[in-house]
Amino acid sequence: MNPINFLRLIHTIYFAPEPDLALIQRLGLLAVKLGQIHALRPDFVGEDRARILARLYSNADSIRPENALALIASYAGPAYMDNFADFDPVPFAAASIGQAHHAHLKDGTSVVVKIVKKEMAAELIRDARRIRSYFKLATLVYPKLRGVANPAELISQIETMTLNELDLRNEVAGQRILEKIVASNADRFDFSHLHFRTVHENLSSEKILVSNFADGETLDQLLSRGALPYDVLLELFNLHGFFLFAIGTFHGDIHPGNIVYKDGHFTFLDTGTIGRVPDIMRTGLFHMFDALSVDDFPRAAACLYSMSEQKLDAAAYAAFEKKFLALYADFPGKTVTEISLTKQMMRTIRLGVMSGMHFDKGMYDIIKSLMFLDGMVIRANPHAVLLHDMQRFIRNFTPFVQ
Ligand SMILES: Nc1ncnc2c1ncn2[C@@H]1O[C@H](COP(=O)(O)OP(=O)(O)O)[C@@H](O)[C@H]1O
Ligand SMILES: [Mg+2]
Repeated sequence: MNPINFLRLIHTIYFAPEPDLALIQRLGLLAVKLGQIHALRPDFVGEDRARILARLYSNADSIRPENALALIASYAGPAYMDNFADFDPVPFAAASIGQAHHAHLKDGTSVVVKIVKKEMAAELIRDARRIRSYFKLATLVYPKLRGVANPAELISQIETMTLNELDLRNEVAGQRILEKIVASNADRFDFSHLHFRTVHENLSSEKILVSNFADGETLDQLLSRGALPYDVLLELFNLHGFFLFAIGTFHGDIHPGNIVYKDGHFTFLDTGTIGRVPDIMRTGLFHMFDALSVDDFPRAAACLYSMSEQKLDAAAYAAFEKKFLALYADFPGKTVTEISLTKQMMRTIRLGVMSGMHFDKGMYDIIKSLMFLDGMVIRANPHAVLLHDMQRFIRNFTPFVQ
């Protein structure tokens, strides 16, 4: 991606009345990933633009159907197709790294065959390097940018995550990690609403993944037609919260296209990225949310500080606490539309960093999770006061957080 195209990308995401999805897709995988992240931020790009960008989760250009068969043959050899009773060469869903096809195994099992597109990794690495250098240039021109958001870090994160996703064996490994957590905690937490698809490992490889079809709609499809009740999202918070707060290992990419829902049941897809936070952050974060859900801001400030790897002297802490209280002065009772949780969290972390604190990079995994969750809440129930509604779940987790 050259600088002109980079500016076109920023322009179409942030300023064009209607984001040009075809352009974003032409600009490559990294551009698509950036577009997807902004789809969750109606507070940054406006609701209409976010809604259009959300199509990038499912409507990416797919490889032409005749190519799907050729692609499979090139990955797995000509005899591979003999494993299937039928295979629909027209993809039913296409996302940024690949496309999904309906098929049936010889025994009649309805499966999804996910295929990774070709030559994506090299282009991604090249683009990430270039975009980081544009940002570096921007921070030379505007040094103030350095302490604030860290776009170069965000790009590196997207790059690592996507390279990981491009090897579908990581998706199987990720699912196994989450399944194991469920199995070993089933006696102390209700996981009856969470499912994983059966993966056919004997038919899967780096570029092809065969799994049982999960009946239902993705949360993104439900959100798009206004059919996702807020309570269902809170239930997802509850499940995800257990992984996050009780274990510290969680689905690292819970965007709305990666979760299928039907009749009270969630199926986690796309488990190629597993988020992890160290214990000090898992417990610190839990207590911080607990304090925030009851508007106890001095305690929330102390919890943020408890996660810092860098200690402050008394004067520095007092100055930090004063700014923290100011940051939260208007917060109580605010809806997700008035103050987005992600934005508030980013400001909170930034305040900590500007005050001399230092946090483990697991913090970014958490921010990403929050971004997806609060992005979905903004679409499902713009008037929600999310932190207050989280209170009852947070109480449920107390016994699990030592
Ligand atoms: N086993 C499955 N059952 C039902 N739908 C699936 C299944 N696997 C994938 N999909 C559909 O295909 C889309 C893309 O699959 P996903 O695994 O998320 O790929 P990507 O890595 O390209 O995002 C999903 O959003 C979902 O709509
Ligand atoms: Mg996906």
